[in-house]
Amino acid sequence: MKTDQSFSQVPSLAGITSIKDAMKPGLSVDECVRRLKRYHYAFKRLHQIFTARITAEPLYELKMGFSFHAYVCAEHVTALRKRVAEMREPPLGLEAVPAPGLEIFFDELLGAPTTEELITGLYAKALPALKEALERHLEHTNHLADHPSVRVCRFALLEVVDMLQFGNQTVATLADKATNEKMAEWLALLNECLAAAGGLDGTQKASDRTLTGRYSSKPYKFDGIPKRDQRFPDPYNMGVNAEVFLYDEKFRPEPKTLMMFYKRLREVDVPEMMASIISETAGKPWDYYRDMSRQLWDEARHAMMGEVGFANLNIDWPKQVMINFTWSLALNTQLKPLERHAVLYFIEQGLMPKTGKRFEWEVGRASNNPLSTLFQDYDWADEVLHARIGRDWYLKDFDDPQQAVRYGDECWSRVLMNWERWRQEGLTQHRNWWPDVYRQACRHWGIDPDPKVLAYSTTYQTVRADLKELTGSA
Ligand SMILES: [Fe+2]
Ligand SMILES: [Fe+2]
Repeated sequence: MKTDQSFSQVPSLAGITSIKDAMKPGLSVDECVRRLKRYHYAFKRLHQIFTARITAEPLYELKMGFSFHAYVCAEHVTALRKRVAEMREPPLGLEAVPAPGLEIFFDELLGAPTTEELITGLYAKALPALKEALERHLEHTNHLADHPSVRVCRFALLEVVDMLQFGNQTVATLADKATNEKMAEWLALLNECLAAAGGLDGTQKASDRTLTGRYSSKPYKFDGIPKRDQRFPDPYNMGVNAEVFLYDEKFRPEPKTLMMFYKRLREVDVPEMMASIISETAGKPWDYYRDMSRQLWDEARHAMMGEVGFANLNIDWPKQVMINFTWSLALNTQLKPLERHAVLYFIEQGLMPKTGKRFEWEVGRASNNPLSTLFQDYDWADEVLHARIGRDWYLKDFDDPQQAVRYGDECWSRVLMNWERWRQEGLTQHRNWWPDVYRQACRHWGIDPDPKVLAYSTTYQTVRADLKELTGSA
């Protein structure tokens, strides 16, 4: 029998590689760890950049895409940290910058002033470089000896390719030839940064060019003012109180599904707000950033479930449903990061009792709208996870859980929703858009509108979203 062949027809070496390939020396543990730390640094910086740019990015699809990609990068950071820790004793050096060129490269992306430069830098430079590095790792390393890293790199590669698919189409759509010509010099600078680092994985000879940053020359400042595209034409509108309608027993469940789709889509303000907490809170253990990014992505999914719910009922939401940004705007501009987290925790712990997520799921079931039922089912499950994340990362800084809840309530009560001033300044008329959207849904359902439902006109002027009297989302 030849020693490099399998004894039986069953694949040798558990199917992970051939005996021939497993004889190749591959990367030493030292070299493997050195490279893994570079992928880790790249994913960590990408996570930071995607998160930082969610709030002020107006294009809804990019806001959602960045929310997803921030989360995906956070998961790969976690996996790489774990793998490095398996191969080395602390200190692991995971917080060190592996090469000055890489630091400037990612600082340039973070500070990119336009969406076109940002997406081109991210999707046409950073992610392709990372993809190449991961592929080279799989090519260079010994798949038997270094199998745990192989697994981490393969999973990472899978999602890097997905991100690139989204990114390539985005860049092709948003950055035309003229824009590309205008940013040619900056893109060349990005190439020089990578060359100075010997490539993203440091496997090439490093160039000795001196680098001068363009957008990274001054420190980056997070922009917490939410921006929206033209599908959000009345972003200060607080004319339709979803919660008062939802919990009013005199209304039937069917129209309530519309209010729930509205509530879901309005959640686009939660990633906008959470991105500010994550971006403006330094020095937490890595798992804090991972957990918060998971929750941020869930909230973006909830918004997209609302979008799909409306599409399913043939409702043209940009014209008929006025999705506002008043909650993220107010919290980001009036509260400190910990105070925003307190408000988020206060709202989410209030979502668990009987007027909360179970109630919304029951309304979905009672309404015979299978999509609403499904979405509320998962929304509820996500919310249970968010309550756990709140307990792990917000609550534990308080001696008494009740005090943590009270603090959240206090912080939210301090937030000023300038209902009347916004109206006086002409920012909104708080138009009651509800009757039109309800009529449209009735046409789709082939039923006559219920006059009582049609007449609904309670606003957020005096009752806030947790039904507490006065002046919110999640
Ligand atoms: Fe949530
Ligand atoms: Fe949510």
